[in-house]
Amino acid sequence: MKSPIIQTFDLTKIFDNQTVAVNKLNITVYKGIYGFLGPNGAGKTTTIKMLIGSLYPTSGRIELFGKDIFSKDKVKIHTLIGYVPENPTYFLGMTAERLLEFIGSVFHMPKQEIKTRISYLLKLVDLTDARYRVIAKYSAGMKQRIGIAQALMNDPELLILDEITSNLDPLGRNQMIELLKDLRQEGKTMLISTHVLPEIQKMNADSIGIIDLGHLIMEGTIQELNERLGTKLIRINPNNEIIRRSLEPIVSKITEEPDSLIIEADNLEQVWKTIAEISLKNNIVVNEFRSSGLEIEQIFMKALEKENKNMELKDVE
Ligand SMILES: Nc1ncnc2c1ncn2[C@@H]1O[C@H](COP(=O)(O)OP(=O)(O)O)[C@@H](O)[C@H]1O
Ligand SMILES: [Mg+2]
Repeated sequence: MKSPIIQTFDLTKIFDNQTVAVNKLNITVYKGIYGFLGPNGAGKTTTIKMLIGSLYPTSGRIELFGKDIFSKDKVKIHTLIGYVPENPTYFLGMTAERLLEFIGSVFHMPKQEIKTRISYLLKLVDLTDARYRVIAKYSAGMKQRIGIAQALMNDPELLILDEITSNLDPLGRNQMIELLKDLRQEGKTMLISTHVLPEIQKMNADSIGIIDLGHLIMEGTIQELNERLGTKLIRINPNNEIIRRSLEPIVSKITEEPDSLIIEADNLEQVWKTIAEISLKNNIVVNEFRSSGLEIEQIFMKALEKENKNMELKDVE
């Protein structure tokens, strides 16, 4: 059986006895990429700070690799996790080489190993040419990539990346996404927080957790969440008016694209029957009738919608 790499148990953080930033959060992260999604202020950074041991929970527990991080035989969190904060403020006056040498010495790595590791990592994050330049002069994307290099210096199995792509331009984003996919190939586990959803899609996250107001709304693989939300997307080509009108009463949503109709429906069979009937009767050639799941952004919106409905119901009670 797969064993969890990170697991939280009713993890809670209340600031100043009043702001509930994280509320009985239970997440489980397995090997691979875990997309930690939520709107701004949802509690992602607060959770991450507790995971890396820089904030103490108000209540609840955290296990890393099956061990409680606050137990007596405390795990050495910093040797197990590489962490890149949301807005890294490294020693900006240092060059990439100097920064990595410094990190290597913190981990008591032998000099020769430090040298080899630096060359390897700078190549990996595509900063070989910037090795002797001061970090202050790097672009935002380069700063994030040197952040990843420093987090990987002692080769931890787990990386925790807070909004790693959020402040990058499209080029920087794509470069970062490719790097993260490479790291996944190398067998690293990554918890990646973001409020920018399409990124997680491009990374092919193995599973995602959606949080809002400090607690978990949904967690699972994209497929599992699709099944749970019970909605199917169907793409129909062409975008035909007769088909569209006859579907309107039996589906929950129709989005029109220039040459297709995207349909959200719970009852696929009924949709399929209607289309077959209409196309036969009116001699319409259907080029494509394909069902697919929701994409991350749609799952996210649906999950939040559902949550809000539940809350309204509770308010009424
Ligand atoms: N040090 C702090 N003191 C008081 N409130 C805080 C502190 N840090 C975060 N918060 C509050 O906790 C909530 C969650 O914040 P945060 O974890 O930064 O969310 P996210 O990273 O998802 O945007 C917000 O309401 C924020 O204002
Ligand atoms: Mg944050």
